[in-house]
Amino acid sequence: MVSKFLVLSLLVSLVVAKPMARNMKLHESREHAPAGFVRSGAADADKELKLRIALVQNNPEGLIDALYAVSTPDSASYGEHLSKEEVEKFVVPSAATSEAVNAWLKESGLTVSATSPAGDWLTVSVPVNKANELFDADFAVYTHSDTGKQIVRTLSYSIPAELSGHLDFVHPTISFSNPYGTRPVVSTPFVKPAKRAIEPLATCSTTAVTPACVESIYGIPKTLATSTSNTLAVSGFIEQYANKADLKSFLTKYRTDLSSSTTFTLQTLDGGSNPQSGSEAGTEANLDIQYTVGIASGVPVTFISVGDDYQDGDLEGFLDIVNLLLGESNPPQVLTTSYGENESDISRALANNLCTAYAQLGARGTSILFASGDGGVSGSQSGSCTKFVPTFPSGCPYMTSVGATQLSSSSGAETAASFSSGGFSNYFGVPSYQSSVVSSYISSIGTTNSGKYNASGRAYPDVAAIGTNLEIVGFPENPPAVSPWEAG
Ligand SMILES: *[C@@H]1O[C@H](CO)[C@@H](O)[C@H](O)[C@H]1NC(C)=O
Ligand SMILES: *[C@@H]1O[C@H](CO)[C@@H](O)[C@H](O)[C@H]1NC(C)=O
Repeated sequence: MVSKFLVLSLLVSLVVAKPMARNMKLHESREHAPAGFVRSGAADADKELKLRIALVQNNPEGLIDALYAVSTPDSASYGEHLSKEEVEKFVVPSAATSEAVNAWLKESGLTVSATSPAGDWLTVSVPVNKANELFDADFAVYTHSDTGKQIVRTLSYSIPAELSGHLDFVHPTISFSNPYGTRPVVSTPFVKPAKRAIEPLATCSTTAVTPACVESIYGIPKTLATSTSNTLAVSGFIEQYANKADLKSFLTKYRTDLSSSTTFTLQTLDGGSNPQSGSEAGTEANLDIQYTVGIASGVPVTFISVGDDYQDGDLEGFLDIVNLLLGESNPPQVLTTSYGENESDISRALANNLCTAYAQLGARGTSILFASGDGGVSGSQSGSCTKFVPTFPSGCPYMTSVGATQLSSSSGAETAASFSSGGFSNYFGVPSYQSSVVSSYISSIGTTNSGKYNASGRAYPDVAAIGTNLEIVGFPENPPAVSPWEAG
């Protein structure tokens, strides 16, 4: 009896303690933290959280229609890319949405400290205890076991029912972007220091792939690009730096027909940099830059180095770099990225928002390429799984996911590389442009692996290209313990 009464009074006092009794509705939740994270206790009640509030965009469907219209070769408006303003019109929240969210912010005593250009993201600063109360959340400290990095997250949160359809989601809440999840995903398993590089091969060798080999496999001309207005951007994250001296040695060795002073320009955001000491050269960054500059003959290349001062709430700059380019009047024609993460680490709402950001950049005329991952069916890095683990952003249908191939050591034939990721998204359905090939593929495999993958999801990669045994110049930042010839 007594205990029952105690429980009841506790409930009553909780309800009374709430400043505004609202009709709250569960908005996003996950059953548990992703593998690799453990809850290490409640978060300090006074700790200030920088929360990003994504507002519902007024016409994302219109944006997708516009993207397909400018990207589909037989469409009347093929190639007629949208301007910054035209794209923003689709994502700017409706007046009703802005009013509803602003009224709630005011009532809750929250002040907006930053707004995205289109007004679809707001940033507020709020202490943990207030955030818990406002969102019926349980913000706690989660530790990433491998790295010891701690982050504050909740496994669920609610929003006032009247904000449904206006407030898209709050971030960071249930997304656990893995601190090292955005690791190089196409770093070649065979990175060979320059000193030991063998003489350039005239033809393809199955153990040493060079620019000449890549050109011969795909029929890529050596002639210089004629348009100087095109730009190809290569992104760099997690302190991966592209070294200019290494690029020069690479060109001297493998592209004797190109001027060895051909180089790239640097763009930075979130405090990024590109220090040039040899020991700071990153294997992934060197690989990406050497093969981009070394193959896209004469196309101006920009290396975009994203630092650690993320404005996107621990998304490691993934949203920041898109926003940076969306803010430009002439974004690059290509953005290529060799980093990614497991799709399930981030929430559906967040994945959708990022995917819409890619659609915006695509509608502006940028072709967005991402590596599909290095863990085969187990996601961005190899691991064990019972169901196949899709990667992000490869599951997003508005970018091009690129897988890796290898040359068979016996026949020299190009086949899928064993580590390269492929699969089906759990967040995005099959887009119409791939529905017929995907359904014939699924019928061709019959019951093989059925139940392990999502047959109604967007399939990836879209294309694949040679991704093993690439010769690069520069020393790996973490030299493998085994001989580089056998590594991987
Ligand atoms: C992706 O998921 C797999 C399977 O659960 C796991 O082994 C791997 O560590 C995850 N990758 C990252 C970078 O968290
Ligand atoms: C499978 O993919 C579809 C389409 O994106 C999605 O609606 C569904 O939730 C996914 N199923 C699972 C179990 O994740």
